[in-house]
Amino acid sequence: MCGPKDPKARGTKLEAASHPARLLLPSPPLSVTLATRHHRSASDPTVPSRPTSLSRAAARRGREDEELPFLQALHAKPARFLFPSLKAYELPSSTTLLTTALLLFLLFASQLILIPRLAPYFRQPIQPPLFCPAPVSNPFLQQLYCRAPDHRVGTLYGSSQNSMALAAAAERVAAEFEYSAQDVNRGVQEFMREMDEGLGKQGATMSQIPTYVTAVPNGTEKGLYMAVDLGGTNFRVCSIQLHGNSTFSLTQSKVKIPQELMVAKTSKELFAFLAKQIETFLKTHHNDHYVNHVEKRRRKGSLFEGTHDEEVFHLGFTFSFPVQQSGINKGTLIRWTKGFDIKDTIGKDVCALLQKEIDALDLPVKVAALVNDTVGTLMARSYTSPGKTGTLLGAIFGTGTNGAYVEKLARVTKLKKVGAGKQDVDDSTGEMIINTEWGSFDNHLSVLPNTPYDKSLDAESNNPGIQMFEKRVSGMFLGEILRRALVGLIKDPSVPLFSDEHSNQNDVHSTTNIHDNSPLWSQWALDTSFLSIASADNTAGLKNTRQTLDSDYGVSAPSAEDAEAVRLIASAVGKRAARLSAVAIAAVILSTGKLQHPTDIATTNNATLEVNEDEVVDVGVDGSLVEFYPNFEEFIREALREVEGIGKEGERRVRIGIAKDGSGVGAALIALVADRAMRASSSPNASSAAAGAGGLAGFFTQFLSDLNRNLRVRV
Ligand code: BGC
Repeated sequence: MCGPKDPKARGTKLEAASHPARLLLPSPPLSVTLATRHHRSASDPTVPSRPTSLSRAAARRGREDEELPFLQALHAKPARFLFPSLKAYELPSSTTLLTTALLLFLLFASQLILIPRLAPYFRQPIQPPLFCPAPVSNPFLQQLYCRAPDHRVGTLYGSSQNSMALAAAAERVAAEFEYSAQDVNRGVQEFMREMDEGLGKQGATMSQIPTYVTAVPNGTEKGLYMAVDLGGTNFRVCSIQLHGNSTFSLTQSKVKIPQELMVAKTSKELFAFLAKQIETFLKTHHNDHYVNHVEKRRRKGSLFEGTHDEEVFHLGFTFSFPVQQSGINKGTLIRWTKGFDIKDTIGKDVCALLQKEIDALDLPVKVAALVNDTVGTLMARSYTSPGKTGTLLGAIFGTGTNGAYVEKLARVTKLKKVGAGKQDVDDSTGEMIINTEWGSFDNHLSVLPNTPYDKSLDAESNNPGIQMFEKRVSGMFLGEILRRALVGLIKDPSVPLFSDEHSNQNDVHSTTNIHDNSPLWSQWALDTSFLSIASADNTAGLKNTRQTLDSDYGVSAPSAEDAEAVRLIASAVGKRAARLSAVAIAAVILSTGKLQHPTDIATTNNATLEVNEDEVVDVGVDGSLVEFYPNFEEFIREALREVEGIGKEGERRVRIGIAKDGSGVGAALIALVADRAMRASSSPNASSAAAGAGGLAGFFTQFLSDLNRNLRVRV
């Protein structure tokens, strides 16, 4: 590890090279000379490790007494060597020259070849600070302190009794979120068991929903396709223009879902709103097409009569809620999640609901595919990921959480039980994308952690006992968990949180005070983004955290100690969420055996990778948590290393990549698949042509290469 990477050694070599006369010395050999000089400068506190020319001269003068006689001679007669005769340069022996050349060559080779190759082996995903004065003995807390950004941990607490009481209380609450390596492993085992159960029967805790995505587009289609995305706070509409030569372009718009529609009395209210947005989008971005269609319809008197198929938009509907899918554009809602709650939608076909409202507006749009956002993420990631290995898993860690992965069709035994026949399932690929709906993993709480904050959050939610994994992992809930933990401390008279105990450290106002209308008192009012702000805060005295508490959360003039306590608990909540996320990822990797057979799914790209690309297990992720929460991926990786069957070796081979906006792009891509499948099924040789050979590997290879790489996004 010394050599070229050691700055002292580098300094020494440079110095030697800038004094060629020293190469004239007959003995000792160069390597010994360098080692001697290195040793001297390192042991002499007056000589800096990277000496400047001035300090070098001073140091040289100071050292002359102790130097060997021939070095003293050199220093005494600098002129002779500063202007040496040509003859003097001819003096080095061939051994010296050879040694120098060899050293230079080795230096060069190590820079060019060895270092880039070895780098990944030395690289640690997490770089804890070198000095970490963690004041606690619990490793979970210690890590939270040590991973905190540049900030001397514990320094914000004072030495008064109140300060120590606050520190102790914060540590006690943070420790409640500990999720040990043993917990992770138990979680993985149970997750794998529930995955198997869900593949075998309907109504299992984890739904394991078959998606029916199996057909292959050939890239020659022309026309406009659309995708809409309903899954959280926003509704997105986009259109994809196929140019017929495997290129396409994408246009999209976004609108916030009004809160009252999320809990509307009837499905109609929500779906009519969605259809209206589609109409607005068409008028804004495809007005000619829209006007032509409406005029034609008026002339003919019916929506589709006389309309050529290519004049109708085929729409991919990303609907990111648990749906029992029974065909590529058919599926009934199992339950609402993420704050939506419209009773009469349960059990209804959501594609039909949307189509009805689209038809009511006479729009030239056919709902052609029903897509979960995780499936879209998987498709989009597989399309963009480097290397020839296909993506195994698409996962969302955002407002909600869920994953979709590539499963062997033979393992989806419940397909037969629900009577899905050859006409519904194209088995020629031997694989199918499964939407796990892992948000409901372990609803019965056999392995999930269950703090008092988790319990009360669930009890007061609109779906108690449901989505228990999601309620501990996703952005919709983490802010609320933190809020409950903080309120618990605020209400405890023995804990001086936000108590004005430290007002001398406040630089905003003088008195710490929680306003009556502070969002801290309201359910769901603490946004998960606050966890990111606090966990990432490296400002002096945690000023960012204090200012956010003051401006957004009605806590005027919180002290630095308050912020220190808040940050520790926020980091603990976030870290537990990341470690739970690792449980899901690890279980999918282990249950599919992809560490043993990573190349089952192929794509055509061939970018360079740090590990042998044949060994990569690719995971596409999206969502605000994984994108913005500090160290989320690193915490996941740390937990993956602790999983039996994955370990350090396996974790290194897991590649996690963001598939930004995968749900929108993916849905548009699946709309193409669906359109092609529909056309194929109406042609005589349809079914055999649809899938092509080569498993889902072939599916992705052909599908993705056919679509070519020409995505242009306009917002
Ligand atoms: C839904 C899933 C969705 C996930 C991420 C969950 O609440 O049940 O269908 O994929 O959120 O958006």
